[in-house]
Amino acid sequence: MEIRNGMAAVVTGAASGIGLALTKALCRNGLHVLMADIDGDTLDTARAGLGDLASLAAVRVCDVSDESAVNDLADLAFASYPTVDLVVNNAGVSSTGSVLESTIADWEWVLGVDLYGVIHGIRAFVPRMISQGGGYVVNTASVAGLVSTPGMAPYNVAKHGVVTLSETLYQELQLADANVGVSVVCPAWVATRIADSDRNRPGGPQEDSETGARVRAAVRAATEHGRSPDSVADQIVEAIRRDQFYVMTHTGMMSFIKRRNREIETGGNPTVDTQI
Ligand SMILES: NC(=O)c1ccc[n+]([C@@H]2O[C@H](COP(=O)([O-])OP(=O)(O)OC[C@H]3O[C@@H](n4cnc5c(N)ncnc54)[C@H](O)[C@@H]3O)[C@@H](O)[C@H]2O)c1
Repeated sequence: MEIRNGMAAVVTGAASGIGLALTKALCRNGLHVLMADIDGDTLDTARAGLGDLASLAAVRVCDVSDESAVNDLADLAFASYPTVDLVVNNAGVSSTGSVLESTIADWEWVLGVDLYGVIHGIRAFVPRMISQGGGYVVNTASVAGLVSTPGMAPYNVAKHGVVTLSETLYQELQLADANVGVSVVCPAWVATRIADSDRNRPGGPQEDSETGARVRAAVRAATEHGRSPDSVADQIVEAIRRDQFYVMTHTGMMSFIKRRNREIETGGNPTVDTQI
C-alpha cells in the first residue's frame, strides 16, 4: 500500500515496544495514529514522548481481549478520520510455562490477548475497510507462530493461530478482490518489555512455575540483547509499502523453520530443543 501523508492508522499495544516504535515510524511518515493500549498511564507517557509528532497521535485505553472494547475503538477511529487506512493488531503478552503447568487462567489470558485480540481487530476493522474501498492489516505474530519452543505453550498456540488467521484472511481477501492488504510479522527477540507482560495481567502477576521461571529468565536475557524495536518498525513500514505478507525480522531463525518443514516433509519427529 502506498503510505501517504494524512492517512490514518490504529496501533494496539502502542504504549511500549514494537507498537510504540511503529507509532513513531508511522507519524514520521505523516500518518495520524490512534494509539490503543490497556495501560492508560504508560500510553499517555508514550504519546508525550513523541515530542513534535505527538500532534499526530491520539490515545485510547482498550483491552483487545474484549470484543466490545475493540468495536468501540473502531467506532472512534472511523469517526475521527476520513478513512482508517491501516490497523496494526500488535498488542501481545507472554506467559511462560509448559503445557501441563500452564493454568486455565494462563491459557485464557494469553489466547484472549494474543489471538482473540487479533480476531476482534480483524472483525471490527476489515469490513469497514472494504466498504471504504481499501486498507491494510498488520498482525504481529512471532517466530513462535512458525516453530514450537518448549516452556511457552499458550504463547506458541496463540501465535500459530495468528499466522494461520493471517494467511486465511489474506487468501479470502484476494478471492473477494478486496483492496485490503495483509502482513504478518514474525519476530524473534526484540528489546521490549515482553518478559514482564504480566504487569498488565488482570488480577496481577501470577507466581511462575519452575519451568516458567527458567524460561522467563531466558526470555528476559534474550530480549535485552534483541533487535531494536525501531529497526523492526522500519522493516514493517517497508513491508506495508511492498505489500509483503511474511515479515521475517530475524533471518537467523530460518534454519529452525526449515528444520520443522523438513521434519514434516520426511515424516520425522520434532527435534527436542532443550532451551530457547
Ligand atoms: N519482544 C519480542 O521479543 C517479541 C518477539 C516476537 C513477537 N513479539 C510480539 O510483539 C508484540 C508487541 O510486544 P512487545 O515485544 O513490544 O512487548 P511490550 O510488552 O513492550 O508491549 C506490548 C504492549 O501491549 C500492551 N497490552 C498488553 N495487554 C493488552 C491488552 N489486553 N490490550 C491492549 N494492550 C495490551 C502492553 O500494555 C504493552 O504496551 C506482541 O504481540 C508480542 O507477542 C515480541
